[in-house]
Amino acid sequence: MKISIIGAGNVGGVLGKKWAEVGHAVVFGARSPADPKYADLKVIGAMTGVAESLAGAEIVLLALPGSAVAEFAAQFGPQLAGKIVIDATNNPRSPVMNNLEALQSAAPGAVLGRAFSTLGWENFANPQLGGQQIDLFYVAAVSARPAVEQLIREVGLRPVYLGGLEAVLAVDGLTRAWFALAFGQGKGRRIAFKLVEENAGPG
Ligand SMILES: NC(=O)c1ccc[n+]([C@@H]2O[C@H](COP(=O)([O-])OP(=O)(O)OC[C@H]3O[C@@H](n4cnc5c(N)ncnc54)[C@H](OP(=O)(O)O)[C@@H]3O)[C@@H](O)[C@H]2O)c1
Repeated sequence: MKISIIGAGNVGGVLGKKWAEVGHAVVFGARSPADPKYADLKVIGAMTGVAESLAGAEIVLLALPGSAVAEFAAQFGPQLAGKIVIDATNNPRSPVMNNLEALQSAAPGAVLGRAFSTLGWENFANPQLGGQQIDLFYVAAVSARPAVEQLIREVGLRPVYLGGLEAVLAVDGLTRAWFALAFGQGKGRRIAFKLVEENAGPG
């Protein structure tokens, strides 16, 4: 798949590397693609402007600051039509953690999912903790679910589907729990969640 990653920082960089390793065509969309700070990422994917990265992409991962999503959506919304857009962005200091509303209004033709938002990026880089595979809880429109699930598995995480976009507050509650534990309770960033089930299915 061709994957456009908007925001080539901690989250975008780690996920882009993993997806490039399994053979996806990863293109980073950056405001200043020629910046030398992106030298490492250029080895694994193309580094272009935001508009160029979106052209021909089937998947778009949003890994830019949450505060920048509304402007991004207003500018590039029409280019997102028909693409699966995964919102990994957070607004930790706002009552609404996700940016789905801005995306739904400016990009009505996009097929949305919300994943990679609940855990610190270190847990994407190394998806095993204490000998266990980390679970990643996510929501997605039904038609986006197979692709989002595949991309989660390819990072090495176990996908746990919480439902369609109407269940997004459940995902965002986990993000708040992660922040409370990591920082409020001083447990640090290498913490994650695991679903324990009596009758576990394939996940
Ligand atoms: N850090 C985590 O562990 C973690 C985990 C889950 C989710 N998240 C969420 O994921 C998002 C990214 O986090 P991060 O830690 O990867 O941030 P980061 O390291 O600061 O990277 C953000 C990237 O976004 C780019 N950017 C900023 N404004 C942009 C715009 N208007 N258009 C395009 N690119 C823009 C920045 O590049 P320039 O400013 O140089 O252009 C930078 O490359 C945030 O919303 C965060 O809340 C973070």
